[in-house]
Amino acid sequence: MENKYKSIGVFDSGVGGISVLREAVKKLPNEDFIYYGDSKNAPYGEKGVDEIRKLVFQVAETLVSRQVKAIVVACNTATSAAIDKLREKYKNMPVIGIEPALKPAIKLKRGGKIIVMATPVTLKENKFMRLMKQYEDFAEMVPVPCPGLAEIIEQGHFSGPVVNDYIETKLATYKEEKIAAIVLGCTHYPFVKEEISKVVSANIPIIDGSEGTVRQLKRKLQSYNIINDKTEKGKIEIFNSLNEEMVELSYNLLNS
Ligand code: DGL
Repeated sequence: MENKYKSIGVFDSGVGGISVLREAVKKLPNEDFIYYGDSKNAPYGEKGVDEIRKLVFQVAETLVSRQVKAIVVACNTATSAAIDKLREKYKNMPVIGIEPALKPAIKLKRGGKIIVMATPVTLKENKFMRLMKQYEDFAEMVPVPCPGLAEIIEQGHFSGPVVNDYIETKLATYKEEKIAAIVLGCTHYPFVKEEISKVVSANIPIIDGSEGTVRQLKRKLQSYNIINDKTEKGKIEIFNSLNEEMVELSYNLLNS
């Protein structure tokens, strides 16, 4: 099959990357996608870097064995821990990662703190340290590690007391301060965006990295000359390492 007609592989530690897939399908409707959620091994965000790398390579192999033309790492944690190694291994195809969207948050030029919610691994890794350094002169950024939040979402809680209590506790310290924006540095968190909005003042922008990632995906497909030029709507296949219920949950989130 000609390269441009192959699918784009997208993966995450679980259902979180569906927030990126949703944006990708919107912006690239004629592409075919294969999504792999590694819910059996979730959460990645509280594991050691070596273990995350091992898991990421396994998932990438699965996608490559399905003949994908590009890989989207729809997981901030996996990107922090493994993107360089992944690009070294798969030199001949675009490998796109995701990172906390600090730049769009800074660009809003609202006064106050930029709260960055992400997994402990993402916030601890060098990649994020470098990113923060790049923007430190423009705003005060406050990393807020959220261990356990991705798991709550994996369990299918998108609203209600479990989610609300978690977010209330996490953001309690900042409620009285001026918040410029909240950056969602984990692809699971957009699914509880409304709940976050209820806890802080409703006019605070909540930004995630999916738009930037999909823009970069499109640019890469163009530069490799592998944009799918068919005119009909693309196919989406979803796999999950845990069970069929997670596949069903993923389709529901994709259509939500
Ligand atoms: N969705 C993943 C991310 O963007 C993290 C979830 C996890 O800890 O597995 O970082």
